[in-house]
Amino acid sequence: MQIDLTVNGEARRVQCADNTLLVDLIRDDLGLTGTHVGCDTSQCGCCTVHVDGEAVKSCTMLAAQAQGTQVLTIEGLAEGDVLHPVQQAFSACHGLQCGYCTPGMIMASVQLLRRHPQPTDAQIEEGLAGNICRCTGYVNIIAAVKTAAGLIAAARSDATATHGGAR
Ligand code: FES
Ligand code: FES
Repeated sequence: MQIDLTVNGEARRVQCADNTLLVDLIRDDLGLTGTHVGCDTSQCGCCTVHVDGEAVKSCTMLAAQAQGTQVLTIEGLAEGDVLHPVQQAFSACHGLQCGYCTPGMIMASVQLLRRHPQPTDAQIEEGLAGNICRCTGYVNIIAAVKTAAGLIAAARSDATATHGGAR
């Protein structure tokens, strides 16, 4: 079958089998291997991407269900050479060790911070409940999410000052 979708802002057309999973389309057909497969059974969250702005485990979704959608993967999160604040914070806080869970953690954290711009520990734990990290013990991940919240708030306040409160 043919699937037309937008991935990281770029229109893509892919031919694939009816039963292709979205994660396999992303990795194998589009070559975007930043999205990882940790379990293939909907447990680990390594495969988390955004579909029409919502974080989803891309191993739980058929590629066909992404027809006509906007997909954002970890490769599309930075703006040019400038990492997204959540990426910056994970790096600064050492919110990773092996890095296998990290793309999914970051994509889930971006959504979490949209819902809770100043999250409590409990909100972070709930927001990342679908993402498993086998290395870090989560302490630095929680610190990274809080740091990212501060970076995003500071950037918003800078933008407001620059634009005279027009945004
Ligand atoms: S690979 Fe999708 S949840 Fe683990
Ligand atoms: S950093 Fe290794 S699984 Fe999370």
